[in-house]
Amino acid sequence: MRAIAVSTFRSDPSLVEVPKPEPGPGEVRIRIEYASVNPHDWQLTDGTLDGLAPQTFPLVVGADYAGRVDMIGSGDNRFRVGDHVFGRSGGPAAGAGTYCDYVCVPQDSAIALVPRGLDSRIAAALPSAGMAAAQILEAVELRGHESLLVVGAAGGVGSCLTQLAKARDVRVIAAVRGNERSRMGSLGAAATIDVTEGPAADAIRAACPDGIDALADLASASPEAFAAHAEALRPGAIALSTRAVAAAARLPGRVRGIDFRLDPSPVLLDVLAAGAADGILRVPVDIELPLEKAPQALDRNRTGGARGKTVIVLRDHGHR
Ligand SMILES: NC(=O)c1ccc[n+]([C@@H]2O[C@H](COP(=O)([O-])OP(=O)(O)OC[C@H]3O[C@@H](n4cnc5c(N)ncnc54)[C@H](OP(=O)(O)O)[C@@H]3O)[C@@H](O)[C@H]2O)c1
Repeated sequence: MRAIAVSTFRSDPSLVEVPKPEPGPGEVRIRIEYASVNPHDWQLTDGTLDGLAPQTFPLVVGADYAGRVDMIGSGDNRFRVGDHVFGRSGGPAAGAGTYCDYVCVPQDSAIALVPRGLDSRIAAALPSAGMAAAQILEAVELRGHESLLVVGAAGGVGSCLTQLAKARDVRVIAAVRGNERSRMGSLGAAATIDVTEGPAADAIRAACPDGIDALADLASASPEAFAAHAEALRPGAIALSTRAVAAAARLPGRVRGIDFRLDPSPVLLDVLAAGAADGILRVPVDIELPLEKAPQALDRNRTGGARGKTVIVLRDHGHR
């Protein structure tokens, strides 16, 4: 089958032929229609997995997918051949990358049926970004009418988080690079700050003079940059990082730092997919590319500038 894979950590991903996987006991094999790009995909091949566990190369990239179950492994299984499914595989670490024609995943992993009315490409864009957004919103422990500063709000996680927070009457202050006021406003942001226009701290203070109730920082790669954003928080607030920099940050007194880790869940996938099918949650797809262009998609995501999700097309089934 076709796959986008790396031959060593830090090597360039390329299109290769690899054996089609066979489902083991309790697994399903999925014929992939669409995969979506997450920063995690290139972060892994850039070396975050290096030394953690023995890996078999070539390592197939990717984790999010949508497609059809085409084979069932032995034993009990909640799926049937032909089911339209989507989910997040264990990714390259589990030998289950998704930038390829087929993937095998455990039937009790983060996999769910695509509900009627949800486009397969949107389903593929949803798992990592949607689940992260929902779990971040729980982790920051906000009630309605409180304020949430989202740094890096224009990307996959930020676009979903802004909508889910707004649906709970949380006041979202979206910090982005560039003029995204209209787009972030349409997703539900109460205020949008362009951090390239001047000191972010001044703009945040102007948008929320009484202080911010929680921070979800999806962008800052250094403890210092993260701590600077946390300066805007009220005492007792939570400052959450998705980039694993909270533990090392010198946070203002009485601000609690959290390093977020996604905990993939099939139940959460069901809830998110229902919201997306009903139009309550919009998953913005800004780029669609064929499999052979996936290496460019990874480069592009690494450079920045995401305005929603990039979807890799394995088999185009049109909109349904
Ligand atoms: N720990 C976990 O379990 C977990 C789970 C999900 C995601 N994550 C991480 O969370 C991060 C975001 O994920 P994602 O899927 O949303 O990525 P994404 O779709 O690539 O979006 C990232 C966004 O951040 C913006 N950005 C970058 N630097 C910025 C800055 N200094 N100020 C404001 N905006 C900035 C980017 O746009 P510009 O470049 O134009 O600014 C882009 O819109 C990634 O690093 C990802 O690996 C971690």
